[in-house]
Amino acid sequence: MEKLLLGLILSSIVATSFAYIQIASKKPLGTLYRWKQIDYAYPTPQARQAAISTGQFNQLNVIPLGVERWKDRVFISTPRWKSGTPATLSSVPIGAQTESPPLEPYPNWNWHNADNCTGFTSVFRMAIDHCGVMWVLDSGQVDAFEAPRQLCPPTLYAINLATDTVIGRYPLPSQFVLQNSLITNIVVDSRDVRCRDLHVYIADAWRFGLIVFRNEDTSFWRFGHYSFYPEPLLSNYTLHGLNYQWSDGLFGMSLGKYHQGDRPLYYHSMSSSLEFVVSTSVIRDPTRVSNSVGEFKLLGDSRGANGQVSAAAVDRNGVMFFNLISRDSIGCWDTRKPYTNRNLVVVAQNNNTMIFPNDLRIDHEVPQMAWIITNRLPMYQFNLINPNDYNYRVMYLDPVAAVQNSVCQPEISLSDNQDMM
Ligand SMILES: *[C@@H]1O[C@H](CO)[C@@H](O)[C@H](O)[C@H]1NC(C)=O
Ligand SMILES: *[C@@H]1O[C@H](CO)[C@@H](O)[C@H](O)[C@H]1NC(C)=O
Ligand SMILES: *[C@@H]1O[C@H](CO)[C@@H](O)[C@H](O)[C@H]1NC(C)=O
Repeated sequence: MEKLLLGLILSSIVATSFAYIQIASKKPLGTLYRWKQIDYAYPTPQARQAAISTGQFNQLNVIPLGVERWKDRVFISTPRWKSGTPATLSSVPIGAQTESPPLEPYPNWNWHNADNCTGFTSVFRMAIDHCGVMWVLDSGQVDAFEAPRQLCPPTLYAINLATDTVIGRYPLPSQFVLQNSLITNIVVDSRDVRCRDLHVYIADAWRFGLIVFRNEDTSFWRFGHYSFYPEPLLSNYTLHGLNYQWSDGLFGMSLGKYHQGDRPLYYHSMSSSLEFVVSTSVIRDPTRVSNSVGEFKLLGDSRGANGQVSAAAVDRNGVMFFNLISRDSIGCWDTRKPYTNRNLVVVAQNNNTMIFPNDLRIDHEVPQMAWIITNRLPMYQFNLINPNDYNYRVMYLDPVAAVQNSVCQPEISLSDNQDMM
């Protein structure tokens, strides 16, 4: 990893506690790639020009959303939110010779050209299991920012990354997709070495549901809970002078460490300052769908004003990283410690390069790396993207170095930390 990333832009990051100012030091946060505008690897310049002429490709409307990493590639989704996105899932090599490489439609162009639900429609996010299968969430909906049309059912795909072939296609059953559902995010839970006991957890941010997929028999079921709703005042956002209202519910999900046959699912609504937890043994049991209300629990403190979080992930050391979308920041929390403000720390912050950190995933490498996409989504929504500025970034964060000497470091307790200061 170090070798591959050599020569890429490194920025300094600060560790700032929510309540107190902590130690600021040089930490390994970097930008792998950045783009002013997204471009695609067309087979010829003529093909690219033709796509622009017909409106099939409109660069201003293309925005990257989801990110994942497997070995020497990074995968990026570009949902079809406005017209002119020619491909909705792509890869880029990690070692490209340019800081703005063109996206290569994945697994190939054919998957992006069909308009009859045999190919991809509008991919939101991906989650890769440790066996090398990428689980892809296709919302099936296009033109969400113009005139939304549900062309195909939301669909979960499984892609074998060793062969680049689609090995599974699982449309969500219609009884679990409600009117105006927005199926936005997924995490994959696989525990055994061969990924036999695999489940995928899927968030419905607009109709406040948690949908579970069991790979063994390809069945789905759906939980509802009041903790999946947005908080009214946290639905009012102000970011870099823009005021907007988003009432997004269940969104960010991350899996804690496997312990005594179970592991926790941490989750939150996007328009919220609260984190919750449920045991995966509960949600993996379809008989619990209507008799588990007490199993979904508040984790701890409110993160307070501007405490909205998009994606989150937990690394092998049990440290959670989360995107603070109203603070141009990434935060951390050591899952062994109480979820209190004093145990939450900002590990990276930048009001230019980190405007709207949207997706965050932690890879399966040794050592691990966290991958973040920042995409200025509110500016995109209001057509305020400046094509002369760097708007979109794939960033990486070393999760071990990032928490060193902060209260997120597993060996450090709050009292140790206070002693150090
Ligand atoms: C769907 O579209 C693709 C590409 O245009 C075509 O090859 C395929 O035959 C179509 N399938 C159906 C069932 O219409
Ligand atoms: C929403 O935020 C704006 C900008 O900060 C503020 O003027 C307005 O009063 C807020 N609305 C509510 C209901 O809090
Ligand atoms: C960004 O941060 C810098 C340094 O902290 C500060 O000087 C500047 O005013 C900030 N800009 C915005 C738009 O918040």
